[in-house]
Amino acid sequence: MAENSTRTIGVLTSGGDAPGMNAAIRAVVRKAIQNGMKVKGIYRGYTGLLNEEIVDMDKRSVSDIIQRGGTILGTARCEEMRTEEGQAEAAQICHDHGIDSLVVIGGDGSYRGALALSRHGINAIGIPGTIDLDIACSEYTIGFDTAINTAMEAIDKVRDTSSSHERCSIIEVMGRNAGYIALWCGIANGAEDILIPETYDYDEQRIVDNIINNRKHGKRHHIIINAEGIGHSTSMARRIEAATGIETRATILGYMQRGGSPTCKDRFYASIMGAYAADIAAQGKSNRVVCLQHGEVTDVDIEEALVMEKHISDYQFEISKALST
Ligand code: F6P
Repeated sequence: MAENSTRTIGVLTSGGDAPGMNAAIRAVVRKAIQNGMKVKGIYRGYTGLLNEEIVDMDKRSVSDIIQRGGTILGTARCEEMRTEEGQAEAAQICHDHGIDSLVVIGGDGSYRGALALSRHGINAIGIPGTIDLDIACSEYTIGFDTAINTAMEAIDKVRDTSSSHERCSIIEVMGRNAGYIALWCGIANGAEDILIPETYDYDEQRIVDNIINNRKHGKRHHIIINAEGIGHSTSMARRIEAATGIETRATILGYMQRGGSPTCKDRFYASIMGAYAADIAAQGKSNRVVCLQHGEVTDVDIEEALVMEKHISDYQFEISKALST
């Protein structure tokens, strides 16, 4: 493709929101304009695209947002975009509005929609935006750093009261089917047990033995970080209390992990990745996912990105156990 084959670029955020999405929108808009393109913002993800909630954006449309959590464009999970009809209609709407490239800021689910649009002739470019860190092609996803810092601070607070009352606490963190938030917080908060879907064997007796053993050795609290992908923290707490005789409470951190002003790291990568997306669109690269690999921002084919796999580091998980004794 020739240089600057994109004349109009669209941008939307899709799936669960993540801190730093605004910084990514700002970067896409400003760099695309510098690259000589027009920019259209699409509200409420693919749902808004299908409803033609499309507005022109200029450099001032993205003033004063870099520090804000959430997404100024709004987001949605769109069932219609999973259907052939929905995908064809979304592509037609892009054509009608002159959108030749579409930047989709979101997770894997959002890239499936982007891939479908690319098959209808729209150049789709994904930017990894999710607190879960579960996008295989990228070492980093926008929102992860803010989410783990929010969770870490909350877990510190639960730990204070857990120690005072000599209780066991099960704290459930988000992450869908991935255990990255749990692993990072588990290590950063010095948790006694970390339960992640990638490795958990459902052996509660081992946890019970660990709690009793730690208590014998003078530990005044026992923090268990439980990943959302395992869940059932409240019933687990009841069973553990019955088996150990130690008061056990469950805390589910929930959506607070998705909000708040993005950290420096999230703003930084969101800005670089957003600008990079506008640059590759200008260069005529098509159907790519922007990603971080070996510490550098680069891009991979969207179809390849969707079949890649990512694994929790065995070493990091082993270390988390070694340090909690
Ligand atoms: O993908 C981000 C995330 O917060 C996951 O950790 C969680 O499983 C999911 O979104 C919750 O989604 P919803 O906002 O649709 O309840």
